[in-house]
Amino acid sequence: MFERMFGFFSTDMAIDLGTANTLVYIENKGVVLNEPSVVALSTVNGRHNVLAVGNEAKQMLGKTPEHIRAIRPLRDGVIADFAVAEEMIKYFIKKIHNNRFLSASPRIVICVPYGATAVERRAIQESAEEAGAREVYLIEEPMAAAIGAGLPITEARGSIVVDIGGGTTEVAVISLGGIVYAKSIRAGGDRMDEDIVTYIRKNFNLLIGESTAEKIKKEIGSAVMLQNSKDITMTIKGRSLIDGNPKEIEITQRHVSEALMDAVSIIAEGVKDALEQIPPELVADIIDSGITLTGGGALLANLDAVVSHITGVFVKVAENPLNCVVLGTGQALEEISKSDSILLKIY
Ligand SMILES: Nc1ncnc2c1ncn2[C@@H]1O[C@H](COP(=O)(O)OP(=O)(O)OP(=O)(O)O)[C@@H](O)[C@H]1O
Ligand SMILES: [Mg+2]
Repeated sequence: MFERMFGFFSTDMAIDLGTANTLVYIENKGVVLNEPSVVALSTVNGRHNVLAVGNEAKQMLGKTPEHIRAIRPLRDGVIADFAVAEEMIKYFIKKIHNNRFLSASPRIVICVPYGATAVERRAIQESAEEAGAREVYLIEEPMAAAIGAGLPITEARGSIVVDIGGGTTEVAVISLGGIVYAKSIRAGGDRMDEDIVTYIRKNFNLLIGESTAEKIKKEIGSAVMLQNSKDITMTIKGRSLIDGNPKEIEITQRHVSEALMDAVSIIAEGVKDALEQIPPELVADIIDSGITLTGGGALLANLDAVVSHITGVFVKVAENPLNCVVLGTGQALEEISKSDSILLKIY
């Protein structure tokens, strides 16, 4: 009522609640928030207080004193800590409200991992309601990724999308507005970071943190060393496991691609396996239209070449892969009356 009287409009939003990053899209405005899914909590006398969320909290990862914990509530593609996840959603929604003049109770479309259980869906819905949503709709992440990547999901034609996120890689084949086949592979960006930490410890006797490993992956990571490619190097800092002293070493792209070999092959083999499971008519469509990669992992250099080599199908990286899911969720929000069948029913 007040909205009408004062001429404010309820501002609906689409949220990609990812294990690594949370993005929020607002109708007619686009992506208004893009921050790491990290919460820093301080515990004093057994009571938890939220100290920082998002960018500020990510900078604290691996650097906190004993009474502060920087946590990723969604690690591994599932909500590992509901209470903290809810705090995080509330914080982000409030942040958007403070920055702009929005209605206090928006309609929210939020994506959930493929195959999220009824309990998990309910928990996400309740978190959004607690955070002030008037109505909550859910959409499955691979569907959102496919819409955001511009795939023709409603046609009678198979499209395949591979969303490589922080926690998981989700492979989905979509036709006629529905998911025909999907699977979730427990290997994504986090696994790559962990493998880099292990590789450097084993081969260089140097201990580094996961944030450093992520930086290495983004700067010089490659899914494979292509012939004739120049071996670029990077200087990294950590603690020597021999004498415990701080130490600097130089590593090459070849080292990083060796470290990433397992994760990359799990992802590529997972896509190949998906193609073996689906009806042949859909395979024929996919041979024509190719495989689309989305999610931050799609930015790993030469990953497209490896997936293409293993599957024998051409591969393209979506434009702006980190934003596909939130943009697809946003599109579902804008066409909410039409996208009814794409949105999940809440039980
Ligand atoms: N240039 C890059 N090269 C390799 N990996 C990258 C690059 N940029 C980002 N990433 C990785 O992408 C991952 C984050 O991707 P994204 O934001 O799509 O994940 P998410 O949606 O939060 O996770 P999920 O979908 O599993 O819930 C991180 O592991 C990050 O390190
Ligand atoms: Mg994601």
